[in-house]
Amino acid sequence: IPVDDFDLVIFGGTGDLARRKILPGLYRRCLSGQVPDDARIIGAARSDMDTEGYRQMIREAIAEFGGPEAADGKAIDRFLTRLHYVTVDARGDGGWKELHDLLRKDVINAFYFSVGPGLFGDLAERLLRFEIADTNARIVVEKPFGRDLESARALNATLAQHFNEDQIYRIDHYLGKETVQNLMAVRFGNVLFEPLWNNHYVDHIQITVAETVGVEGRGAYYDKSGAMRDMVQNHLMQLLCLIAMEPPSMFDADAVRDEKLKVIRALQPVDYHHIVRGQYDKTRTSADYRTDAEDPRSHTESFVALKAHINNWRWAGVPFYMRTGKKLKARSSEIAVVFKDLGHSIFPGDEARHRNILSIQLQPNEGIKLQVTIKEPGPGGMRLVDVPLDMTFAEALGPDAEGVPDAYERLIMDVIRGNQTLFMRGDEVEAAWAWTDPIIEGWKARNDVPKLYDQGSSGPEDALMLLHRDGRKWREIKE
Ligand code: BG6
Repeated sequence: IPVDDFDLVIFGGTGDLARRKILPGLYRRCLSGQVPDDARIIGAARSDMDTEGYRQMIREAIAEFGGPEAADGKAIDRFLTRLHYVTVDARGDGGWKELHDLLRKDVINAFYFSVGPGLFGDLAERLLRFEIADTNARIVVEKPFGRDLESARALNATLAQHFNEDQIYRIDHYLGKETVQNLMAVRFGNVLFEPLWNNHYVDHIQITVAETVGVEGRGAYYDKSGAMRDMVQNHLMQLLCLIAMEPPSMFDADAVRDEKLKVIRALQPVDYHHIVRGQYDKTRTSADYRTDAEDPRSHTESFVALKAHINNWRWAGVPFYMRTGKKLKARSSEIAVVFKDLGHSIFPGDEARHRNILSIQLQPNEGIKLQVTIKEPGPGGMRLVDVPLDMTFAEALGPDAEGVPDAYERLIMDVIRGNQTLFMRGDEVEAAWAWTDPIIEGWKARNDVPKLYDQGSSGPEDALMLLHRDGRKWREIKE
């Protein structure tokens, strides 16, 4: 279904995110017919460039990052005609009048701040002073949304000076992933799971976001951030919220976000002994974290594992184990709901520990699997085996599962539709920092040194111990 006509301005339109994700994503949405013929995309940045130069830059970006669809030269030509470029000075007055004159007032206006948060205030102020954005305009902002509660509050306050909360779209691209949304469909679209979704039936939950990439090339940013700020405070906590929240009364932005916020607020402060930090070590052929981060004394973590508890009736006593890291053995993100063991087995001689596990695989092979116990086929008697009921989308849905839009594509279209459900509200972001800040401060106060781990492993030994101590074990990290 096509969205309404729009002008989308991308500040930082020549930057990495714009070239890698935003523009290739918009190109694919155009190909799918979702973008109206007249809709325009306006790159705005400091570089002195004209529209022709910008179109050429984006042509190259699509060739590099556009995926298989980038082979269609004619479609790219058509897409590029939508592009415009304005040189703007975020901290001065240059270019703002041109931007004002270029924009159409009778269509949706959206402004993507694909720039460092230090510029949010400057951009917001000029958008109003030059009468470019009105109260219908939509503002899209990217992480990092602050580096602690105080800075996040300041950013929220800056944006609130100029715009209403319902105009602000804070992106967490994990919320745009297909399976993340499917998680809500599975939970709330089936009668089967919700009655079991609590501490009577769930033993524990594991959330893993494992990456094989390191931080090379992004060392300067990453070293000031670390896995806790870069991944846990946003992506992992968002996943935690969706898995743990109470059913919202409807699938509506504030109803969903209210429930997510309650989860964050119910999180117990994490015990120092329930967190493991790690840093990847060098191998014979590849550098260690400190070399990649260009700081030989860095104590920043490239891995973190922790045990969280949610203090409410539904989840009392159920541990949520979360881990994320770089340079691990596989790129694999999974949420696993591990149900309790069978209380009593009626099958003589069956010593095995059978348990149901609902595994929600975010990437790379998106899909949902439910481990169930059945009889092993054949005449061998009543022997039980655990097999997965596989709901891998590509297989279950056939060709319709192809061409699933990537997270950014989906989220940008949601901005145009005016749907904030998959965006973070200001209070959510602040509450998330309020939970992670003491953890980070605790490390600092203790001068905590991350444990080294082998590249291509599952992280430091201590992370395995975190579960072993509780008589549990992590699921294998595999694609
Ligand atoms: C980003 C982080 O938000 O998410 C990166 O800054 C990380 O460090 C990336 O690599 C992971 O995203 P995805 O979609 O590849 O899992």
